Amino acid sequence: MASILSHYFPLLVFLLSLSNYNVTAKSSSWSPDSRETDFQKWVSWNVRKHRDKSNIMMFGPESTTSTTQAPPPSAGVKVVDDKLRNAERNKVRISVCQNGTGDFKTITEALNSIKPPYNTRRVILEIKPGVYREKISVPRSLPFITFLGNSSDPPIITGNDTASVAGKDGRPLKTYQSATVAVDANYFVAINMKFENTAPHEIGSIGEQAVALRISGTKAAFYNCSFYGSQDTLYDHKGLHYFNNCFIQGSVDFIFGYGKSLYENCYLNSIAKKVASLTAQKRSSPSLESGFSFKNTVVTGSGLVYLGRAWGDYSRVVFSYTFMDKIVLPRGWSDWGVQKRDTSVFYGEYKCSGPGANLTGRVPWARILTDEEAMPFIGTYYVDGDTWLISP
Ligand SMILES: *[C@@H]1O[C@H](CO)[C@@H](O)[C@H](O)[C@H]1NC(C)=O
Ligand SMILES: *[C@@H]1O[C@H](CO)[C@@H](O)[C@H](O)[C@H]1NC(C)=O
Ligand SMILES: *[C@@H]1O[C@H](CO)[C@@H](O)[C@H](O)[C@H]1NC(C)=O
Ligand SMILES: *[C@@H]1O[C@H](CO)[C@@H](O)[C@H](O)[C@H]1NC(C)=O
Ligand SMILES: *[C@@H]1O[C@H](CO)[C@@H](O)[C@H](O)[C@H]1NC(C)=O
Repeated sequence: MASILSHYFPLLVFLLSLSNYNVTAKSSSWSPDSRETDFQKWVSWNVRKHRDKSNIMMFGPESTTSTTQAPPPSAGVKVVDDKLRNAERNKVRISVCQNGTGDFKTITEALNSIKPPYNTRRVILEIKPGVYREKISVPRSLPFITFLGNSSDPPIITGNDTASVAGKDGRPLKTYQSATVAVDANYFVAINMKFENTAPHEIGSIGEQAVALRISGTKAAFYNCSFYGSQDTLYDHKGLHYFNNCFIQGSVDFIFGYGKSLYENCYLNSIAKKVASLTAQKRSSPSLESGFSFKNTVVTGSGLVYLGRAWGDYSRVVFSYTFMDKIVLPRGWSDWGVQKRDTSVFYGEYKCSGPGANLTGRVPWARILTDEEAMPFIGTYYVDGDTWLISP
């Protein structure tokens, strides 16, 4: 308990300082200067926290060379998380194949076979190539599940539910329940999988939110996966998430939620017909550890897009080392029509390139990050990866 307290102590200080900030912001004596001071405090808190983490890595038994970069998720990283270490030690494999040559014919049957509830082992579902028309739920009681596909022929999990489609009780599903694949479990991993929601989105229509995958569990990792949808493709709902080498396609707000996530080496493809937003990050309170960080990403496709629009008052998104095609609107970011958000959102860009990265027309409240400001967002430490990200 003591160690937990000391671990979270900086966070506590941070929360306290932010609650002050909140009070100040509401009072009439608030001025842009005090906001700037709070922002600087917040930046230096981030930087300090980052240094602390780097020191832990540096003096750890697996100490390597770099002090600024956490080691990659391969190569014998120290797994601090006991539950995960135990689960990896006892992992089992089951196969899913539609032609009957595997242990199960459907992913749902394979998941249902895992007993007892509150699974403690990693269970790897080796999913053979094929199109799986299944609406899948990985419940909280099934942590440590891996969906492993074949990299030369990734299995496709497809559906077409939308927010307005009637569910079993006759009422509309809403966005949350429209997901083809919904993951409420922690420690979920997917490798070489294609997640799809084929429902289209027509401009001006309502109720066409159609999620391909919702991830609500924490400590989840996705490698070589693709996500296809239109409106609201990837519901990065909540928790710590890591995406590497993933392809994400959609039209409106196609990465959304309040997860704290790092997207590395990903490809964001807009199929918008007019004006839309790539992300809708919903950090709704200053105490929420939440935000999307995109590193080494490519942004391209059709239509005209904002990099993000503020779903929450404290929405936080950072793009670094990203190639932005000309589809990115010069303004870059949108407050979704709520002007007071201009002073509370955190939208940062760092070392991006391409015609869409031209900063000339950016909204004045977009932040061009310094090296120091960007540092906390551009490594796997952003999602506390050193405690749970392991070699896939
Ligand atoms: C069944 O599917 C697997 C994996 O795709 C394949 O290797 C195998 O040849 C198939 N078997 C039959 C009998 O079709
Ligand atoms: C992946 O699929 C290809 C083609 O279907 C097959 O040749 C290969 O053996 C599969 N690899 C694995 C690891 O199953
Ligand atoms: C969804 O797909 C089913 C068949 O797979 C089809 O009958 C239905 O019309 C589709 N619904 C929508 C909204 O596209
Ligand atoms: C990801 O895909 C690449 C090919 O694009 C492949 O070389 C690599 O092994 C895959 N990663 C995993 C974890 O399967
Ligand atoms: C950025 O945009 C401005 C205004 O459209 C333009 O004048 C300038 O040449 C652009 N800069 C680059 C590097 O393309």
